[in-house]
Amino acid sequence: MRVPTIIVHGGAGADLSDAPDELRHGVRAAAQAGWQVLASGGSALDAVESAVRSLEDHPRFNAGRGSVLTVDGTVEMDASIMEGDRLECGAVAAVTRIANPITLARRVLESRRHVLLVGPGAIQFARSSGIAECAAESLVTDRQRRRHAQLAARSSAADGGTVGAVALDRHGTVAAATSTGGTAGKHSGRVGDSALIGSGTYADSSIGGVSCTGDGEAIVRVVLGSRALHYLKEADNPDYAAKVAVDLLVEEGRGQGGLILVDWRGRAAYAHSTPLMPVAIMSPTLAEPRVPF
Ligand code: GLY
Repeated sequence: MRVPTIIVHGGAGADLSDAPDELRHGVRAAAQAGWQVLASGGSALDAVESAVRSLEDHPRFNAGRGSVLTVDGTVEMDASIMEGDRLECGAVAAVTRIANPITLARRVLESRRHVLLVGPGAIQFARSSGIAECAAESLVTDRQRRRHAQLAARSSAADGGTVGAVALDRHGTVAAATSTGGTAGKHSGRVGDSALIGSGTYADSSIGGVSCTGDGEAIVRVVLGSRALHYLKEADNPDYAAKVAVDLLVEEGRGQGGLILVDWRGRAAYAHSTPLMPVAIMSPTLAEPRVPF
């Protein structure tokens, strides 16, 4: 039996000068949602899905409702999820009209046929999996409409509040999940790290799990998720692995961002090169989630 743990993040580009309590409340609620699953003996996969759904539903984060807008003013979301016992994974990219892309990614995982579905094909798969489409407008918040107007003259911006979760359950299974609207003002059809297993998300129950956030192109360049677990395996030190991986992102990837980790023993860690990355951690020794920002 292992001691379960969950860590969640709300994106490396978050801005603490604007309603920080909303961010704290959002990540705390997500950690609690995932923790309820783990505490009742549920799986790490259910826990990370539940935590990420909570953040997708929260309008303050850049995932699900609250996603940033493409240059055309539309929402196109990426998400991925992975279970580390059998390296089962599922992902979706550039999906529209789906309130919880992480659940669609989970369905792809469960199909055990494909790993990544994109665009209209992913929506068709959602329909056949019983996931209802929502109105495109219901995902667009006034905050992102304002941001889109301000950004109109620029090509793209950092990912704002991409969300993610990593958990270890009492059976020793590690799972990780990430969901995002991508980068504000991105080209339609652009896909970032959050849809890519090995870059934005990775889990191997013999090592640990990771969810990344930040400049997607830079994260993809260095395959950050996979490299972070490599450092974790080598050093057996989650804090060190998280820090070295973020240094790699900055120095070789030439971008900014952050990541969260849980190792196979349940030790959680995080690191970021940006001023703020909202994080919440929950484990049996805590009465309520620790929100260290
Ligand atoms: N890190 C999220 C993205 O670049 O799409």
